[in-house]
Amino acid sequence: MSSLEIRPTTAADLPFITRIYEHAVRYGTATFELIPPDLAEMTRRFDALMDGGFPYFVAAIDGSVVGYAYAGAYRPRPAYRFTVENSVYLQPAIHRRGIGRRLLQRLIAESEARGYRQMIAVIGDSANAGSIGVHRKCGFEMIGTHPNVGFKFGRWLDTVMMQRALGDGANTLPAG
Ligand SMILES: CC(C)(COP(=O)(O)OP(=O)(O)OC[C@H]1O[C@@H](n2cnc3c(N)ncnc32)[C@H](O)[C@@H]1OP(=O)(O)O)[C@@H](O)C(=O)NCCC(=O)NCCS
Repeated sequence: MSSLEIRPTTAADLPFITRIYEHAVRYGTATFELIPPDLAEMTRRFDALMDGGFPYFVAAIDGSVVGYAYAGAYRPRPAYRFTVENSVYLQPAIHRRGIGRRLLQRLIAESEARGYRQMIAVIGDSANAGSIGVHRKCGFEMIGTHPNVGFKFGRWLDTVMMQRALGDGANTLPAG
């Protein structure tokens, strides 16, 4: 794993990210999307995140993109502007090797550097032990569960809310 690199995402990474997310949409319950977005839509989302000044990273092994993580607006109303929601996805073949944790740690550090104060994970499926576990390892606390708010693959699904303070959190007032 010495060749693992975590680096900012570029447009050239988006075809690989699109494929990783497509698998998660088709076969997983972490995301509540039902139809995989195509490259054009993933590019539109990437551009919107870049325009908003949000961090977006990929994990690459020997130059191949195997995962990604980004932060985006938690909710659009302006009083939420110091709070971000994070996403992290890996290729299934490389789960549980510490890559999700490395991606999330980098995302947290960069979000702190950009002045954000809270990070929220909205985790699809309360049975998603991998996601709950990696967030806990990265300092997130359990906020609670919204039971049965999703319906995918013929069954009701919960969402799990986890949250972590960034930087000074609520101990100081933000600049601006
Ligand atoms: C969630 C995900 C990003 C985690 O990444 P990962 O590289 O597999 O996780 P890591 O190896 O970094 O695990 C870090 C810690 O999280 C916990 N963890 C990870 N996977 C776990 C699992 N399946 N069960 C229980 N705990 C788990 C462990 O505490 C682990 O530390 P340890 O291996 O030293 O015990 C990855 O599994 C994934 O892409 N899953 C599918 C998509 C998804 O659920 N994304 C999250 C959307 S909110």
